[in-house]
Amino acid sequence: MWSSATASLVLLLAGVHAFVPSSLPQHLCRHSISSSSAGIQSKRQHPCTLGSQSSNDESSLAGAGAAAVERRQFIAAAASACAVLVAGSPEGCNAIGELPETLSQKRFVQHAVVNVPDIEAAIRFYTEGLGMRVVRSRADTSANTNTTFVAYGPEQLTVPKDWAPGVSSFAAYGGHFSLELVGPLNPPADGELPFYDPGNGVQYIQIAVDTYRISKVIAAGGEVIFGYGGLKINLFSGVRRDPMMFVALKVSDLKKSVQWYTDVLGMSQFPYPKAREAVDSVFEPKQPKGSVFMGYDEDGSGVLLIPKDKKDKAPIVVGSAYSKLAVLATDVEDEGKRVGAMYAGKAPGTSTSVAVVADPDGYTTVLVEYDDFAREL
Ligand SMILES: *[C@@H]1O[C@H](CO)[C@@H](O)[C@H](O)[C@H]1NC(C)=O
Repeated sequence: MWSSATASLVLLLAGVHAFVPSSLPQHLCRHSISSSSAGIQSKRQHPCTLGSQSSNDESSLAGAGAAAVERRQFIAAAASACAVLVAGSPEGCNAIGELPETLSQKRFVQHAVVNVPDIEAAIRFYTEGLGMRVVRSRADTSANTNTTFVAYGPEQLTVPKDWAPGVSSFAAYGGHFSLELVGPLNPPADGELPFYDPGNGVQYIQIAVDTYRISKVIAAGGEVIFGYGGLKINLFSGVRRDPMMFVALKVSDLKKSVQWYTDVLGMSQFPYPKAREAVDSVFEPKQPKGSVFMGYDEDGSGVLLIPKDKKDKAPIVVGSAYSKLAVLATDVEDEGKRVGAMYAGKAPGTSTSVAVVADPDGYTTVLVEYDDFAREL
């Protein structure tokens, strides 16, 4: 079911009405509703209400019979269809990247930076334990850091050349959120590993993976919290475009934080993200009381803002295990100046433009210039 559902998902998102299995999970259907806001599907019958057969009657949108159109050509067609359909809207179609899924997005929550005491152990935890893979790695001898990115698939916001709809697994598709693990390049001479304070603010990173990975977890009740080096992972069994769902942050003033993520990062509020087919699945982590999910797309990665309990008098401590969130954007240096960033310019030692901002509780986000990111991959 995984492969047919995901292959269909991608086809739907691309606006190609191929084969819609009756088993398409509801939460995957949701995305095609939101993607219609890009205008691509606006004249179409909603895919989730379609029968099992396709209709090709809007093929003029894509410029040719959808089935015959090469993936790349189709994406170009979809982008121009977007330009035509939303020409009247001020939002336009200046999407980030070239994935059909991000045509309606101007920004993209791309990765989180995490400090780890032992890079080798951390990589082992995320790859062997959580089923991620290493997607990039670099060494900085002067800072004595090994920076390794792990993810559930390619990070690029373009369709990988070797990706074939219906054949390739979704893990080979682009647009995956990654974790940037930063650890010592060489173990300290005294053998003492650095300590990173987990703080009390960052609650966990929520990840939904398919069942085989966590069969033991399911046998034990479907949900577990564990982690490496102080950062907690909330892992459960489910199906998502990208298993990486959100970073959960405790905030002292929810209203103020929602305003900040809206005004400074340009995010929107979306329903609490789900990854299970059944509506009230006991395996679906419950939405924390009063929390608000924010991002750029309801099926993309984002942040979950959890209001601090009134009885909780302890001030929020961000700590140092979790370092920051990275958001892809354009014109970030100007944008940084506009929003009063702590820093706006080239990231030290690189040619990548960044702007660093801190939210009302001190959680940091770095805006990264999209073209520079694409060049770095
Ligand atoms: C970073 O550390 C990992 C684990 O020891 C290693 O496999 C990788 O090659 C290192 N990366 C660099 C760029 O040195």
